[in-house]
Amino acid sequence: MRNLNDDIARVLIDEQTLAARIRALAAQIEADYAEMDDLHLICVLKGAYLFLGDLSRALTRPHSLDFMGISSYGRGITSSGAVQIILDLKKPIDNRHVLIVEDIIDSGRTLAYMHRNLSARGPASLRICTLLNKPARREVAVDVDYVGFDIPDEFVVGYGLDFDELYRNLPFIAVLKPEMFAHLLNQP
Ligand code: IMP
Ligand code: MG
Repeated sequence: MRNLNDDIARVLIDEQTLAARIRALAAQIEADYAEMDDLHLICVLKGAYLFLGDLSRALTRPHSLDFMGISSYGRGITSSGAVQIILDLKKPIDNRHVLIVEDIIDSGRTLAYMHRNLSARGPASLRICTLLNKPARREVAVDVDYVGFDIPDEFVVGYGLDFDELYRNLPFIAVLKPEMFAHLLNQP
């Protein structure tokens, strides 16, 4: 059986660095929400599932969570631009203090759409927390409240992020060997 590690060109953010940064984000969130009785985390599926799990476990204050499935990428490494809700929240968020938990902000289209959509549901507050941010790729402005790491304009996988639905289970953030997606880049 093939080993996913053989497809990796290099590790961009290792497990220890991820864990330390997530602990720091959790501490910052706990300080900012200290005066609020409520905190409701919304995990953007699928990419943020591991980040949500670790961020939630790093928080010692009470909080609830819900999931939203968003699709903005087809097969490949560039956004289709069209954002679609493929799984909606289980419960209303009116008067809730909502924190969106996302894996990565690239063009900004997904989060701009989500922010607009969730604002319209009347939350008491609405903030955004992303593990990764690619500032060089931004096409739509998004106000991000918490950023784990700014990263260069490279396609990354691991720790929830996929290429063609694979590599999500890698415990670190990595860059793939170019030959892994060369066939897509050569398409017209
Ligand atoms: P945006 O709408 O262009 O900001 O794209 C955001 C979504 O695209 C993220 O939630 C990811 O699912 C996906 N994405 C963007 N960049 C990468 C990457 O480098 N690796 C894997 N997925 C990515
Ligand atoms: Mg995502």
